[in-house]
Amino acid sequence: MAVHEVGVGLIGFGTVGTGMIRGLQRNGDLIERRTDIRLVLRRIADLDITTPRPVQVDPQILSTDAEALIEDPAVQIVVELIGGTTVARDLTLKALRMGKPVVTANKALLAKHGGELYRVAEENEADLYYEASVAGGIPIIRSLREGLVANHIDSIYGILNGTCNYILTRMEEEGLAFDDVLAQAQAMGFAEAEPSLDIDGHDTAHKTAILASLAYGLPVSLEQIRVRGIRGIDADDLRYARELGFRIKLLGIVMHDAEAGDVTPMVQPTLIPLGHPLAAVGGVYNAVLVRGDVVGDTMYSGRGAGADATGSAVLGDLVDVARNLVSESELRIPAFVEHAHYGEVRSPDGLPASYYLRVSLLDQPGSLARIATILGERNVSIAAMLQKTEPRIENHLPVVLIVEARREKDLREALDALNGLDVVGGSIVQYRIERFPE
Ligand code: HSE
Repeated sequence: MAVHEVGVGLIGFGTVGTGMIRGLQRNGDLIERRTDIRLVLRRIADLDITTPRPVQVDPQILSTDAEALIEDPAVQIVVELIGGTTVARDLTLKALRMGKPVVTANKALLAKHGGELYRVAEENEADLYYEASVAGGIPIIRSLREGLVANHIDSIYGILNGTCNYILTRMEEEGLAFDDVLAQAQAMGFAEAEPSLDIDGHDTAHKTAILASLAYGLPVSLEQIRVRGIRGIDADDLRYARELGFRIKLLGIVMHDAEAGDVTPMVQPTLIPLGHPLAAVGGVYNAVLVRGDVVGDTMYSGRGAGADATGSAVLGDLVDVARNLVSESELRIPAFVEHAHYGEVRSPDGLPASYYLRVSLLDQPGSLARIATILGERNVSIAAMLQKTEPRIENHLPVVLIVEARREKDLREALDALNGLDVVGGSIVQYRIERFPE
């Protein structure tokens, strides 16, 4: 068969762009043998074209003009790797409106403007591929929309942020404080200087929104996701959780209520059983557990960030899009297909809830009975308890409870009542528990 050359224009010559080029230089011949497609990097646009990069490229193809790159007839596929949601949106729209397919790694862009971009892509019969936007090198987008297409998706649980997973892993393994691990991770370049996107859970929320929208065919906006990150998490809680048989992970979760049809996305630090496969995913690794009604549990893990892993995902998309161009089968797999098979997006208020609570309780007779009474009055059951004898702070001692409520709302009301009690010091630490029922 004849080999087809397909011209690629890269906007954003940063970490992921470098990884994409390195992967292409290393395995372009392999791609060609496998697919009869030769991906040719025709242009690169970046604001900074003078700083040396760890890959060699022909200086002639470098420019600061992203618009000219998109307009160049030799560029048949545009790769957007600049991040952000303003210039990236304009450039992606421009390419799509010209009918040029776009490959992007930009989760924030899709989480905020996905609806518009998917529509414009379809109107202009241009592919929009985004495998690299969720969980780096793990082919989770492809799995959801191709491999698992015959399944109702019952639930998705994802460790989707390598920075948070790294911080939690080191805190637990070495008993270190959050601030110390974060500072070290920043010094080593694992964490951003401005870490809020990662540690406050927003990056995980962007990825959760993309997965939820795709899996359920309904647009899930960031505003519909309850988000809580790991900032300031206490090493004591990681230790107590472990004593109770759990490990704390920041999870992006999407649950489907089979009876009501509703879909609930959320992002929060979550206790998971130590023996569960997700609990074994440590360090910068990501993992996604998808439960389908036909297939059962499937789990995917790998590097969720970094030049080469994310570059691999971008290259996979480039090959797919190039194949579609060559076979004139654009939109064979549309960016997003909205349908009404599932219900609405709901908050977790009505879901059954199991929670870890750490209460700082005044050490005097009757304190424990008072909190037990309040929980009992609100139908919140105590499943396990751990009473610590230290640290004693102003005569308060930590009491850790595992509680179960029929609805999360009932638990919230009980917590409001507990927080007002004179025997409870400070605010109650609370983390959701996920037991992954059969
Ligand atoms: N900053 C992210 C992480 C990768 O730490 O996993 C990009 O989304």
